[in-house]
Order: sequence, then structure tokens, then C-alpha cells
Amino acid sequence: MDKHTDKTASRQPTPQACHVGQGIARVDGRAKVTGAARYSADFTAPDLVHGYVVNSTIARGRIVNIDATGVLDFPGVIAVFTHENRPDLAWFHRDHKDKDTPTAHFRPLADAVIRYSGQPIALVVAQDAETARYASTLLHVQYETERHQTNLSALCDDPDLSLNQQMIVKKTPKPRGDAPHAFAGASIRNCTQYHFPIEHHNPMAPHASTVLWHSNGKITVHDKTQGSRQTHDYVCEAFELDKADVQVVSPYVGGAFGLAIRPQYQLFLAVMAARELRLSVRVVLSREQMFTLGYRPEALQTISLAAEPNGALNAVMHDAIGNTSQLEDFTESIVKWSGLLYQCPNVKLNYRLARLDLYTPTDMRAPGAASGVNALEQAIDEMAYLLEMDPLQFRLKNYAERDQIESRDFTSKELRACYAQGAERFGWARRLHAPRSMREGRELIGWGLATGVWEAFQQKASARATLSADGHLEIATAAADIGTGTYTILTQIAADTLGLPLSSVTTTLGDSSLPWAPVEGGSSGAASFGSAVKAACEALKKRIAKHAIAMSGPAFGHVTEDDLVFTGGQICLKSDPGKRVHLKEVIKRIDISQLTVDCSAEPDAASKKRYSRNAHSAVFVEVRVDEELGQVRVSRVVNAVAAGRILNPKTAANQILGGIVWGISKALYEEGMLDHRIGRFMNHNFADYHIATSADIDDLEVIFVEEHDSEVNPLGIKGVGEIGIVGTTAAVANAIFHATGKRMYALPITMDKILSSAKA
Ligand code: MOS
Repeated sequence: MDKHTDKTASRQPTPQACHVGQGIARVDGRAKVTGAARYSADFTAPDLVHGYVVNSTIARGRIVNIDATGVLDFPGVIAVFTHENRPDLAWFHRDHKDKDTPTAHFRPLADAVIRYSGQPIALVVAQDAETARYASTLLHVQYETERHQTNLSALCDDPDLSLNQQMIVKKTPKPRGDAPHAFAGASIRNCTQYHFPIEHHNPMAPHASTVLWHSNGKITVHDKTQGSRQTHDYVCEAFELDKADVQVVSPYVGGAFGLAIRPQYQLFLAVMAARELRLSVRVVLSREQMFTLGYRPEALQTISLAAEPNGALNAVMHDAIGNTSQLEDFTESIVKWSGLLYQCPNVKLNYRLARLDLYTPTDMRAPGAASGVNALEQAIDEMAYLLEMDPLQFRLKNYAERDQIESRDFTSKELRACYAQGAERFGWARRLHAPRSMREGRELIGWGLATGVWEAFQQKASARATLSADGHLEIATAAADIGTGTYTILTQIAADTLGLPLSSVTTTLGDSSLPWAPVEGGSSGAASFGSAVKAACEALKKRIAKHAIAMSGPAFGHVTEDDLVFTGGQICLKSDPGKRVHLKEVIKRIDISQLTVDCSAEPDAASKKRYSRNAHSAVFVEVRVDEELGQVRVSRVVNAVAAGRILNPKTAANQILGGIVWGISKALYEEGMLDHRIGRFMNHNFADYHIATSADIDDLEVIFVEEHDSEVNPLGIKGVGEIGIVGTTAAVANAIFHATGKRMYALPITMDKILSSAKA
């Protein structure tokens, strides 16, 4: 990967004497490669015992008998918790809602009812993890089974069901013009249907919680979480604990991709056992159990497009059905992009949810857009071919200058530059339009293109900046770094604001006792935490300047803060740089051990109303298809991204590269496979759930297009965690069409589909 990153980094202009904008290596890199970084299952205590979760084997029904005698008799077993003996918490008698998913939380061990296969039904606690795991097989459970439904297509096709009664209709942007009418009267029109399967997050580190029990009754929780405050609030509320009695410490996450936005069941079970047993408890999920948490929901989509003979889009209709659980309405932004991405007078969007006997889906990298935009961008490609237009020309012809849904401008939109620079780098001009027209030996070559879009979110967050007497700056916020580079970019922002070298700044994250921060999600981390850190450092700078002016007296003369420059750990006079004072001298002279400032930052409400804010991308993909073997190889990808100012081209390119790899993986390999007869995911391991590996990845290139945006937030940044997957999947599918002449409407595009379409 390094060569790709370096290629990208070298193309960035290198601003002098400041860290922001430079491809700084991760400040937490050494801790990670030496094993010093501790993840939630790494924390320990002398009294640590281990819990293993037992999951239901049926998808719907109830437990009629659960017999733990054999488990309890097994040497080393300490306790077994089930719905029959779990503590009677008030939480079980009311709904628990959280901010991100304002519907009821699943409550583990609440009752005997089974709502999905894999539901946790017991926790076996033993002296060691192996004993707990083995003893869990001795639990005898008798179920009363009810008929379940886990098949979304079957549910939708069932003629006995009135769809509108069975499905939950979600709010979508209101229709524009009259799309059905425009579509019906159009001479050039096309209606296509897409099936995107369930996907699982599969972060490298599985979900785990270690709860340390202290003799004063307080607990320290080490949880895999995208938000230490979120975990803290959940634990305090579910167990009715005093906020001061719980501390969540989760400095490293081990990958999450949305799966650790919501507290998961191992957290509840570990805290419950620790409180009941008055012991420290660790619960780690197995890889198989990682398939019993959230996932990207299945999506059935119908997209209808109509265009004028000159290539102007005249109607867009996008209808999506996603699945949710019996417990909650899991909703994502899946269709709104189809009303946003292209100029079009007639638009109609529909989104419905169907309840299945599965666990509730959860956010997964670019939730909604990864399904909605990747389907739309295949439909757009198909329409370009109906019009006999170059797919890039067709997109440019229908370029949206404004947000037509909200009737307002964008803070910035350099998508045109993404198309231009991406096309140039990729060599798009050399592409032959006709499918099956490019070949090398026995391989068909296909070049495909797609657009990506993702919203530039910012959430309210706070941070603390502390300057010590030795001149060292410490930045602290409860925010998480889920592997995206947050430690590094916050360190860069802080160092630049106070004119310090990176080595004089330490950033501490993932601790609920630190200033409040929301979950790291929606690609909002850089804008949210970065703005808070910037604000805290600016405020600290003001205070230091005030002291410096007061103490320097005659040295600086009558000056204000604006006359001073902070550089190299010193403060000097702009007009006479020879006059200077060290930061540590300032602290020493005011005779305190440190100066501390807490600050929060939030998006400008007026600006948020006036402008739409989005990151954009253009993805160009080359595939090589061996029709005899059905093998598809993605040989080249150029992803040109416009995401405002890039704080760190190295970590940012890493995010885009990860998104591209996942986009390829989604196009060609990933599929959570249910056996609908038993309602369970059967490919719950890395042998059967296929993910792109290094061998599947070839030449990837990321371009960051220059985009100046002083409106989106004071830092001018848009977030890059998710945009990389949006468009990539569609570009692969479009490239496969260009290579083979066959449209693939169902993901993943596996060998069998290539082979059967080749024969057709
Ligand atoms: Mo992301 S799906 O918001 O972690």
C-alpha cells in the first residue's frame, strides 16, 4: 500500500513550516506496531474472570427450559446468567433509546422470547476463557419454535401480503415535478432493479469488553466503542449507576466501520456479570459471534430513468426496500442521493423497511450511500449507453450546480475537477466506447466510471488543551480514533495553532472522563474533534499571549495578541522577531504548574441552513475479465476526491484506499449468506465470508482535488472516512459491463454470474 500512499502524498503541495497538510506518519504508529497500544480485550486485573456468550440456535420462538446444572458442575465455572436469574434492572421495564438510533435498544436476557438466531441467551463465567467456552456447550436449552422469515425477496414477493401494510414507509425528500408522468411520456427510458446482499463489518479486533471491578463499587469499562461517552451513558442508564462511578477507557478500537457506534451485547453482559459477582470480567466475541451483531441491511432497489435525446435527464425514480428487525426501524439515507447528484426536474423517491427475524442492522461505512449511490451510478451508466453517450459526458451534461432537494448552493463542489483529473490520470480519453471492444490475450478489458458523494457532517464536540511548565501541550477529548488517524490530525492541528513541534504535543483520546465528544461516525470526526481542538488551542493561545504581554512589559512594548507570533515553542513580536519569550517561561513566571482551557465547537447553524455540504469523488476502474474462468481482476483504480482541505494526505489517502478496497470487495466478494430454513448466517468465518485480500488488490491511486471551502467549517475540511467506498462498487460493475457487454444487477458479481451471463 505504501507506494500508493506515497504517490498520492507526493502530489500534494507541501506548505512550509506547518504540519497541517503534510503527510505525517501516524503519531500512534509506534504504539500499534510494538504492541504498546491496548485494545479492549488487552486490559486485565488480578481478579479477572471470563464470560462466554451462548447464542440461540433458533430464529423465532421462546425458551421453554434452560438447564445450567451441567455447566455449573464443571470445574472452574463461577456462574451462569440467563433471563431467569439476571438482575432485575429498571431498564428491562422501559425502552432505552439512544441518540443515534432513536428506537428501543435490544436488551440482552430480557425475557424468554427469541427474536433472531444468534441472540445471546446466556453468559457462562469461568476462571479462564477456555473453560467458559467449553462449559457453554453443556447448557441445555429447549425451545418452542415459531415460523420465522429471514428472506427479504420472498417477503416482498409474497402475494398474500399487501406490501404497504407489511412495510414501514420512511420519509424521503418530497417529489419534484411529476416523475411518473415524465417517465411514461419519455422515448428514452430505462427501469432497472438491483439486489445488494447483507454485508458484515468484520473489523480486525472482534467486539470485546473488559470491566474492572473496584472495591469501592466503581467500575472501569474497556469497551470496543466509537464513542467512550456513548458507552458511558449507556452503562449508567442501563444499570442506573452514578455517572462518577463509571469510567470508560478505550484508547484504541481495532476497526469498527460503524459496528461499534452502538453498544453491543457483550458490553451489557460484562458489566452485568462484574456487578453481580463483584469481580472483573472480560467478554470477547468469537469471529462467528461477530455475525450476530449488526450488518449492512439487504437492499432491493428499482431505479427508473428517462432522458431527452440530447442527454438531459428528465426523470429519476428510486425505490428502495431495506430490511430491519422485529425490534427497531433501522433507517439509512439510501435514496436521497438520487435527487441530489444530478440536475433533473422530475424526481420521486421511495424508501420502505421490511421486518425480518434478524438482529437490527447497523451503520456500515457510508450507510445508505454505499447501497443507493452504487445502484444509481450503475443505472446512470446504463442510461448513457442507451443514449450512446460517453458515460463521463452524460454525467457532465447533467451536472448539478445546486442542491435541488433543498434549493440551495453547496459550500463547495469540485466534482468537475474530480472528473477531469481522474479521467486524465486514468487515460479515459483512450477508452473505446463499445462494450467488448478492448481485449488483451484472453482477457476482456473494461473501463468503468462512477460518481461518489457523502455528506460533510460536523457535530458538536469539546476538547481540552493543557500547557505544562515544561512547555509540553496535552490535547484531550473523549473522542475515539477508530483507526482513521484522529490522534495524528488532532496533534497536527494543535501543534500548528500554538507553533509547536509535533514532539511537544500529546493527544489523549477514548476516555469518558475527558471533555465530551460524540461518536466517531459519519466521517464527522476530523471536522468535529478538529474544530474543538482548534478552538481550545486558540483560547489557550489567547491566555498565554495575555500573560506574555503582561510579563514582558518593556520587552514587547504596548502590543496586542495580534502583534505576536507563536513559533518553535516561543512567542515573538511580528515586527521584531528578535524579541521573544519561551512558552515555558510564561508558565514558570505566572507561577502555576499548567494552563488549561476547555472549549467546544459546533457547526454554524445559519450556514448549515443556507448551504448543503458534501464531499464528492469520481472513481475510474479497469477490470480484466477471463470469460472462460469467470474471473474478474480489478487491475487499476483511480479515485479522485474533493473533500475540502486535506489535513494529512497520508492518513486521508489511507482512508480512501480502505474505501476502494471495500468497494471492490463489495462488488466482487462480500455476501452474508443466510440459510433461510433455519434463519442463520452460515458463512460466519473468514473462510466462507469472502473479503478482498492483498492478492485481489492491484494498482490503486488516490487524487485529492484542490477544494477551498471556508464555509463548511473554519478548518475547511469535509471528512474522508466513507467517500472511498461510494462509487467504487458501481465503477467496478460498470467496468465489467464495458468488458463483457453484460449488466450485473445482483452483487456480489461472482464467477458463476460471469460464467452464466457469458453463456446467455
Ligand atoms: Mo461510520 S458507518 O459512521 O462508523
